[in-house]
Amino acid sequence: MIYLDNAATSMRKPEEVIRAVTDALQTMGNAGRGAHQASMTAARGIFGVRQQLADFFHAGDASRISFTANSTESLNIAVKGLLLPGDHVITTVLEHNSVLRPLYEMQERGVDITCLDCDETGMVYAEDFEKAVRDNTRAIICTHGSNLTGNLLDAEEIGAVADRHGLLFILDASQTAGIFDIDVEKMKVDVLCFTGHKGLLGPQGTGGIYVREGLRIRPLKSGGSGIRTFDRAHPDQMPEALEAGTLNGPGICGLGAALSYIERVGTHQILRQEETLMRAFYREIKDIPGIRIYGNFRQPHRCPIVTFNIGEEDSALVAGRLYDEYDICVRAGGHCAPLMHQALGTRSQGAVRTSFSHYNTMDEVMEAAAAVREESRLYGR
Ligand code: ALA
Repeated sequence: MIYLDNAATSMRKPEEVIRAVTDALQTMGNAGRGAHQASMTAARGIFGVRQQLADFFHAGDASRISFTANSTESLNIAVKGLLLPGDHVITTVLEHNSVLRPLYEMQERGVDITCLDCDETGMVYAEDFEKAVRDNTRAIICTHGSNLTGNLLDAEEIGAVADRHGLLFILDASQTAGIFDIDVEKMKVDVLCFTGHKGLLGPQGTGGIYVREGLRIRPLKSGGSGIRTFDRAHPDQMPEALEAGTLNGPGICGLGAALSYIERVGTHQILRQEETLMRAFYREIKDIPGIRIYGNFRQPHRCPIVTFNIGEEDSALVAGRLYDEYDICVRAGGHCAPLMHQALGTRSQGAVRTSFSHYNTMDEVMEAAAAVREESRLYGR
């Protein structure tokens, strides 16, 4: 099988991730719920990963990172916990439904949304954000990289716009964490939402939210926290403020092992390998008659994604044939990014997305390109 669906989830994980999850399942008590060895093992393990994440994103203090189940949960916390009726927020057509749907809910409650359109290559630029700022603008919320086209937004420049105008900058790093260096200080990010199971190479069900010092977010959930049991209200101190109930300890330990692996290999090396594979695939398929590729490939760096269609063929049929005939796993259809499809004109056709991991090989890329060439030839008949 050739797995090219890493933007949905990275399937191959480093060996140490599997070992860390297994160890945790055999040794972990409940963190913060006791002083015995099993509970302390969990607490120490989880704290260690919090610190690793804080270091990884240049967040400084580990307590600024709360664990969540995924980016969707983090984005819901950020959007619903920060915006108020009367606020204006700037976002883009690149966004995933995990940004759009919480925003639409807030729109029902009186939040005003400007959704920036993209150019013909699917790009949005920092100056577009600047032009959209109004007196009541409260926040910019955008993706760091489109899950559909792989286009990368310039988070540092967008962060500078937010900083100049005193706006909150909420960055969705679902497609970039673990592949690109993310420095929340340098990028002036107030809230970073990330998932553990894609580029960070951790288990599904892990993720988190970084919240800048001094910023308070109304929690989505309240409940057991292991501290301040007799208070009626959920604690407002980070990181417990945004965590309620038992954490996914084994998953978090797996994520920690994945971070250690990424640090050992280096994000630059991972990016270099993934970009090499992505650009080789792009070069191999771009001139095939009938192929349409989406996104901006002139960017010096972009997410390791190549999305395409063959003529007018339904993307799900192409993906189905790639799997049935060649054992190649890709994603097709709507990709949870409705406005991006609208902008690309692929609402009904969807699009075939290939997304690469550094674990993929050049042979796999060449095999996949040959399969696409063959499918295009058959379609042309
Ligand atoms: N958001 C994930 C994707 O783009 C699942 O496939």
